[in-house]
Amino acid sequence: MELLKVKNLKKIFPKHKVAAVDGVDISISKGEIYGLVGESGCGKSTIARAILRLIEVQEGSVLYKEQDLLKMPYRKMRAFRKSLQMIFQDPHTSLDPRVKIGEIIEEVFIIHDNLSQQERRNKTLETLEMVGLGEAYLGRLPSELSGGERQRVGIARALATDPEFIICDEPVSSLDISVQAQILNLLMDLQKRKNLTYLFISHDLGVVGSICDRVSVMRKGRFVETAPCEEIFASPKHEYTKTLLNASRLHFR
Ligand SMILES: Nc1ncnc2c1ncn2[C@@H]1O[C@H](COP(=O)(O)OP(=O)(O)OP(=O)(O)O)[C@@H](O)[C@H]1O
Ligand SMILES: [Mg+2]
Repeated sequence: MELLKVKNLKKIFPKHKVAAVDGVDISISKGEIYGLVGESGCGKSTIARAILRLIEVQEGSVLYKEQDLLKMPYRKMRAFRKSLQMIFQDPHTSLDPRVKIGEIIEEVFIIHDNLSQQERRNKTLETLEMVGLGEAYLGRLPSELSGGERQRVGIARALATDPEFIICDEPVSSLDISVQAQILNLLMDLQKRKNLTYLFISHDLGVVGSICDRVSVMRKGRFVETAPCEEIFASPKHEYTKTLLNASRLHFR
């Protein structure tokens, strides 16, 4: 089943002459991990923000279960937003430094559900446990956590609404290599357990290759190539994909 279909998405920022995203099409099936790679500034995060309607676009549609998120009245969109979540690149800036971990998660239940305080506490703890954090973390501030632990909180916050679809925007780029592997394993484990669908953004073809089913290679606002992961690695069609592959092999040496 096709869960998300992006058609001819176009975004031009004011004062920019060229489009940040220039006519992009994406089709993601339920349960799929869809990779998006490309160099810094090519438009990956802009696509992510446009899908979740965090920014307005000039053209295009974003069909989620055949309904256009971009044309939806705001109230209806709010209900849909529970199913679509995002995990950000830098958990340091995406978590409010003044709010304790327990409250960051509990907040989600206050906004989205009609629960008693006790039910909210239980769900908060349950959610933190899903990402390998326990009761001891409830009263801590984001600054009192390691980078990896902070990203676990970011993942827990995304999971709290029980979503179907999650955009992971470079979720491991800010982390040490060893912690990267832990967080990727956690994301993969959650994907299987909850049959989640991911749009997984990275500038690292190695990371994408190890977890994604299909991948689109992006350059200057456009897709140059979309194919199953094995195909991209075994027989890249586009020159730019070959350049990326070579760079990533150098990186692994
Ligand atoms: N709010 C904004 N206002 C103006 N220009 C923007 C804005 N956000 C992004 N851009 C520009 O749009 C282009 C694409 O940015 P985007 O953040 O989507 O890149 P990216 O592929 O996510 O890069 P990175 O890998 O560094 O995160 C860049 O040229 C950027 O400068
Ligand atoms: Mg980005």
